[in-house]
Amino acid sequence: MNYQHKTVVITGAAKGIGAACAYLFLDSGANVALLDLIFPTQLSDEKSLSIVCDVSNEEQVKQAMQKIEDHFGSIDYLVNNAGIQRYGTVTETTSDEWDLVMNVNLKSIFLCAKYAIPSMLKNNKGVVVNISSVQAFVTQHNVSAYTASKSAILGLTRSIAVDYAPSIRCVAVCPGTIDTPMLRDAIELSPNPTEVMEECIDMHLTKRIGTAEEVAELVKYLCDDKSGFITGQAFRIDGGLGITILGSKKE
Ligand SMILES: NC(=O)c1ccc[n+]([C@@H]2O[C@H](COP(=O)([O-])OP(=O)(O)OC[C@H]3O[C@@H](n4cnc5c(N)ncnc54)[C@H](O)[C@@H]3O)[C@@H](O)[C@H]2O)c1
Repeated sequence: MNYQHKTVVITGAAKGIGAACAYLFLDSGANVALLDLIFPTQLSDEKSLSIVCDVSNEEQVKQAMQKIEDHFGSIDYLVNNAGIQRYGTVTETTSDEWDLVMNVNLKSIFLCAKYAIPSMLKNNKGVVVNISSVQAFVTQHNVSAYTASKSAILGLTRSIAVDYAPSIRCVAVCPGTIDTPMLRDAIELSPNPTEVMEECIDMHLTKRIGTAEEVAELVKYLCDDKSGFITGQAFRIDGGLGITILGSKKE
């Protein structure tokens, strides 16, 4: 699909999966609005707009969406990608950490959809893609808030799909382990990062972890008219991580 004259808003676009989405949509001819806590690199003078925005803050999101509509004329696609990982069981997690994870991973999707969807409705067309995680289906130890937030995204995805059909489609993407700064930072916290990376690789049937570019390709397909019969669903891109009981080891 040709994305000329279409505008894609991507949250958490300064790094990782969000940045890969921004490059791919820009290459496909779209106008790209990049939102992040840290200033995202301006990718093009005319076709990209970088905005510093905490997507868990209602006023900042409202202002950012208005600025994007004023600048590009419309919002056609929203990729809710910004997310944070915090570790802890329920007894270890503080209320503040719980609220932070919920606000950044889940409330931000509510807020961005709330202020982007009215622009999509003016054209009677749009797609919202929410980045969840394979942890919406299977769970490791010590990630209670993260897992809860990523699972709730699937419910919100269905809700948006039902409420705004047939004009707007809404889908979720659930990555397995993807090579991004988030993963590298998490692995660096362990006493033996090399060993942890090898374990990560071994957990996947593909015997490798995924790339941000592979996730971006799926996001782009789900925005495309070619996927126009798909809505309300969650798509795993996880190298088979979510289908094994004891990892991928044969013995
Ligand atoms: N990397 C993985 O293995 C993996 C696996 C499953 C799901 N995910 C999900 O994919 C998404 C992207 O992850 P990533 O690995 O690229 O992460 P990353 O940490 O590399 O990049 C995330 C970006 O989000 C931004 N961000 C964080 N809080 C924000 C806020 N309040 N407002 C605006 N921007 C904010 C960060 O500044 C950063 O640029 C996240 O939702 C994450 O949960 C990642």
